[in-house]
Parts: sequence; C-alpha cells; structure tokens
Amino acid sequence: MFKTLLILTGHSKGLGRAILDYYLKLDQTQVLAISRSSISMDHPNLIERSLDLSDLPVLQNELDGIFPDGDFKQIILINNAGWIGEIKPIGELSPKELRQQVNLNLLAPMFLTNAFIKKYKSSPAEKIVCNISSGAASRPVSGWGGYCSTKAALAMFTMVADRDNKSDSFHFYSLAPGIVDTPMQEDIRKSDENNFPELEKFKAFKEKGDLTEPGIVAEKIGFLLGNVQNFPEVIQDVRNIELP
Ligand SMILES: NC(=O)c1ccc[n+]([C@@H]2O[C@H](COP(=O)([O-])OP(=O)(O)OC[C@H]3O[C@@H](n4cnc5c(N)ncnc54)[C@H](OP(=O)(O)O)[C@@H]3O)[C@@H](O)[C@H]2O)c1
Repeated sequence: MFKTLLILTGHSKGLGRAILDYYLKLDQTQVLAISRSSISMDHPNLIERSLDLSDLPVLQNELDGIFPDGDFKQIILINNAGWIGEIKPIGELSPKELRQQVNLNLLAPMFLTNAFIKKYKSSPAEKIVCNISSGAASRPVSGWGGYCSTKAALAMFTMVADRDNKSDSFHFYSLAPGIVDTPMQEDIRKSDENNFPELEKFKAFKEKGDLTEPGIVAEKIGFLLGNVQNFPEVIQDVRNIELP
C-alpha cells in the first residue's frame, strides 16, 4: 500500500527530474509524472503520462480522470513544468508563443490545482499543492515579460486557493526554487544580449558556480512538504529552508 501520492509535472529534466528521483527513493510513494517526453524509467512506483500541458483543450478533457483514487495519507501536487518563453522586450513578442507560455505556466497549473481540490476535498489525507514560482514573480526582469507575469499571477492564485480552502486539511505553497542548474538556465544563457540586458549576470552565475544543483533543491522541497506544520506561509523560498 502507498502512503503518499505525488502528482508531478515537468519530471523529464531539470528540477522536476530531481524531485522525481527524490520521491522515488522514498518508500511507499506513488508518483504520477506528467511531461511531453517520457524518461522511460522502469520503476514500480512510477506512472508516466505524456501530455502537452499547454494544449488546454486536451488537458481539460483529461482533467476528470487524471488524479488517481486510493487510500493515501498524503497527496501532493507539484506544478513544476514551466517555460522561460521568448526572451524579448514586450512589443516584440509573438502572440502564439505568449499564449503557449501563459497556457503552460499559468492556466495548466490553475486547471490542475482546481481539479485537485475538487477531487480530494473530502479525502481525510493531508493534501498539499506546491506551485513552483520564481524570484521573477516579484521582480520585473527586462525580456521576461511573459515569464514574470505568469509566475506573479500563479503566486496570487495560490494565495487565494489557500484562503478558499483553509479548513479542509489543504496546504498551499508558492515556492521559489532559487537559481538552479537546469536546461532552463542553458536556454537563458543562449538569449541575445540586445533582448536580455541581464545576460552577462546569468552567464556569470554558471561560470562562478552560483547555480544550485537540482538535487539539493529537490531535497529542500521534500523537507518542506514533509514538515508542513513548520512552514505556515504560502510564499516560500528554497533559499530560506535549512536542512536538519
Ligand atoms: N532553473 C531555474 O533557475 C529556475 C528558477 C526559478 C524558477 N524555476 C522554475 O522551476 C520549474 C522547473 O524549471 P527547470 O529549470 O527545471 O526547467 P527545464 O529544465 O526547462 O524543465 C522544464 C520541464 O517542464 C516540462 N515541460 C515544458 N513544457 C511542457 C509542456 N508543454 N507540457 C508538459 N511539460 C512541459 C519539460 O518536459 P518536456 O520538455 O519533456 O515536456 C521539463 O520536464 C519551472 O516552473 C521554472 O519556472 C526555475
């Protein structure tokens, strides 16, 4: 029997892959992992779903059947999938890419959070929603118009979800992971300085070893989600979490 159920998006690489590895090492944890690509890992506790989360009509159709039934003590949703998007000044953005980014970074986690609450509201389990945020949710970064805006809106949605569902053994987090050594950071470093004035700063993060290993961030996220009583605030930053 499984004690914990984790539903995780964006597990195929980067931070999501590290979160997946962390939870698969724990006993009695079933993981439902959703990305476009599969990692084809043969693990008895892992169920992979291949889904483009920016394709909202498909996601909407799947929503009612996406969350497993079962007798779990803890049920966790981590909305981790995200995209930095086109790095260009507002005024030069492609509407098509902007829509794809808003779908993935904002609407998909809103849909999933809403459906998760509906599905598990009457379950006696401890229920946790962790929406992966960013420092960019509260800092305007030139060239990241879509990214900053979607992360800020998701943080607000998470705070409202907390107010709406306080009494039903739910815990909600909007969690900034710090700067993490993932493929997303590689994409940022490939951007054009004319479109992204902070390019040199981000290149220096990598060169000076300032990016955190995804495994360390995953461990801190696991510690927070395993000790929710010690973390009452919705807005959290991994950099403030001390491992024992
Ligand atoms: N890295 C950082 O420094 C940093 C800093 C602050 C916040 N964050 C946040 O942390 C989270 C993880 O970032 P990361 O750096 O690990 O990013 P990443 O390396 O680019 O990985 C993104 C993950 O999201 C999945 N994904 C992308 N588009 C998708 C789609 N349309 N449908 C389903 N899955 C999709 C990818 O899988 P597929 O390509 O297989 O679909 C991949 O598993 C994001 O929310 C990001 O905004 C990262």
